[in-house]
Amino acid sequence: MKQTLEDIANAMVAPGKGILAADESTGTIKKRFDSINVESTEEARRDYREMLFSTKSAMRKNISGVILFDETIRQSSANGKQTLVEMMQSSGSIPGIKVDAGAQGMAGFKGEKITDGLDGLRARLKGYHRLGARFAKWRAVIDIAPGTPTYGCIRANAHALARYAALCQENGIVPIVEPEVLMDGPVAAHSIERCYDVTERTLKIVFSELYEARVNLEGIVLKPNMIVPGKNAAKPASAVQVADMTVKCLKACVPTAVPGIAFLSGGQSDIEATEHLSLMNSRHDVPWNLTFSYGRALQAAALKAWGGIPANVKAAQAAFAHRAAMNGLASKGKWTTAIEKAT
Ligand code: 13P
Repeated sequence: MKQTLEDIANAMVAPGKGILAADESTGTIKKRFDSINVESTEEARRDYREMLFSTKSAMRKNISGVILFDETIRQSSANGKQTLVEMMQSSGSIPGIKVDAGAQGMAGFKGEKITDGLDGLRARLKGYHRLGARFAKWRAVIDIAPGTPTYGCIRANAHALARYAALCQENGIVPIVEPEVLMDGPVAAHSIERCYDVTERTLKIVFSELYEARVNLEGIVLKPNMIVPGKNAAKPASAVQVADMTVKCLKACVPTAVPGIAFLSGGQSDIEATEHLSLMNSRHDVPWNLTFSYGRALQAAALKAWGGIPANVKAAQAAFAHRAAMNGLASKGKWTTAIEKAT
């Protein structure tokens, strides 16, 4: 039976499940591998990602979908028996694909960025659909610094997100709409209140552009930042404050037609990302499923445990399964420090 956009979007944010962001570009994955002294070859990238996608317990129980990079959606397992896409499908996890071409300096807007990748996107989406992708991701980057972000930059990024989302839906692909207000930009000294204001403004403009582009909100997944202070902020925020301010901001901006919101981790520690999500779900009634679409906060422990050594695969898979399980609990508001430590 053909799945509708709404079916796919709902499956992506099903209770107890969330998304693994494994779509690091070649440059970003090299940085991650540098941190464990592993050379970033095509084979090493395949081995690392195959290790994650073959972690059956996590993939079956807690990972509804995986965001892939172009290289990975075309790769096969080391023994050549199946493609990595078939591997995740056999665990019931949906393949997704990053389709933006990265954030570049925006002409005339010093220090601000606009995400590239609309040219030729329709044809690329058709190709990715043939390769098995049923959802896609496009990330806009909004940096907070004195005097920025400007309305012009937010508006241009929101417009690109909306055009991307419309093209995805035309091609049977659910768009993950990701406007990321950075917590770790070049200055990153802003307060949690400033993050709230900038995120509110950004989300309002994004949903206005999605409406004008005739995007069906029931067939998208929103991937926002949480409301947190910049990483160099003078004043820290408590976990409860992050959870409460994030939900307040989302309630002010996100229509209830949207089936789910899957957060990015953005530089939070593994535990922070899990705790914040769990508190949002345990403390609030919300009209959407709130879950995770973490990159670093799902992979950091596994990457470290692996270290590029085949003998460490089991330990690395256990680390990944643990984080996936903890975030699965958080998506139901059921994570606790005691469970974190006991398992
Ligand atoms: P992080 O969770 O590491 O922020 O990555 C998620 C992502 O996909 C960013 O675009």
